[in-house]
Amino acid sequence: MDSTVPPKSRKLPTQAIGAKIFHFCNIISLFIMLSSGLQIYNANPVFGGRAGLHIPPLFTLGGWLAGGRHWHFAGMWLFSLNLLWYGIYVLITRRWRHRFVNINDIKALQKTQNSKRLSYAWHRIVYTAIIPILLLALFTGIGMYKPAQFPWIVDMFGSWEALRIVHFSSVPSVILFVLVHWQLGRKAGGEQLTESMFW
Ligand code: HEM
Repeated sequence: MDSTVPPKSRKLPTQAIGAKIFHFCNIISLFIMLSSGLQIYNANPVFGGRAGLHIPPLFTLGGWLAGGRHWHFAGMWLFSLNLLWYGIYVLITRRWRHRFVNINDIKALQKTQNSKRLSYAWHRIVYTAIIPILLLALFTGIGMYKPAQFPWIVDMFGSWEALRIVHFSSVPSVILFVLVHWQLGRKAGGEQLTESMFW
C-alpha cells in the first residue's frame, strides 16, 4: 500500500503483522524503560542531587535503585532487539521507501488546505522523528552502561552529567511522542487506524 497517498483516497489500513508486533513490544519495553529509569533517577536526581526533584513512587518501577537497575537492564534487551528487528523488517520489506516522512508531506504542509492531509503529514513527521529519539536513548544508554568500553560516547557529550541529562531527555520526549502520536493517528485515520496497529 502506498502510504504517501492521503488517507481519504485509500482503503483504511490493515497493518502488517510485523508492525503490530513492533508496536506491542515497544509499548511494553518503553513502559519498563521509563518507569525503571525514573527509579534509577530517584537514587541521585540529576536535577538538584539527593535533595533535588524526586519522582513519586507511582511512576517508578523496581522499588529501589538495584530493583530499578534490574528492570532497566532487562528491559534494554527487549527495547534494543525490538528496534533492531524493526530496522531489519523495514529494510527487507522495503517499507523504508514509503513508510517515513518524505517531500510530499513537506509540500502538503506548505500548500494544502485539506485538514486531513495536514494531520496525515504531521503524523508521518512525528512517527519518523521518534526513531532518532529512540536511537539516541540507546546510544546514550550504552555510554552509561559500559563507560569503560565506550569512553568516547561519554567524551562526545562533554561530561558524565551532560550524558545523563541527554539520556534523561528520552523521558519527556517519549511521553510527548506517545500523546501526540496517538492524537494524530486518530485524526489521520480514525479509531480504525489506531485499532489496526494492535489487532
Ligand atoms: C526510551 C528508552 C529509555 C528511557 C526513557 C530511559 C530512561 C532512563 C532514566 C530516566 C535514567 C536515569 C538517569 C539518571 O538519573 O542518571 C536512566 C539510566 C540509565 N539507563 Fe536508560 N532509558 C532508556 C533506554 C536505555 C537503554 C536502551 C539503555 C542501555 C543500552 C539504558 C541504560 C541506562 C543506564 C546504564 C543508566 C544508568 C544506570 C545507573 O546509573 O545505575 N537506558 N535511563
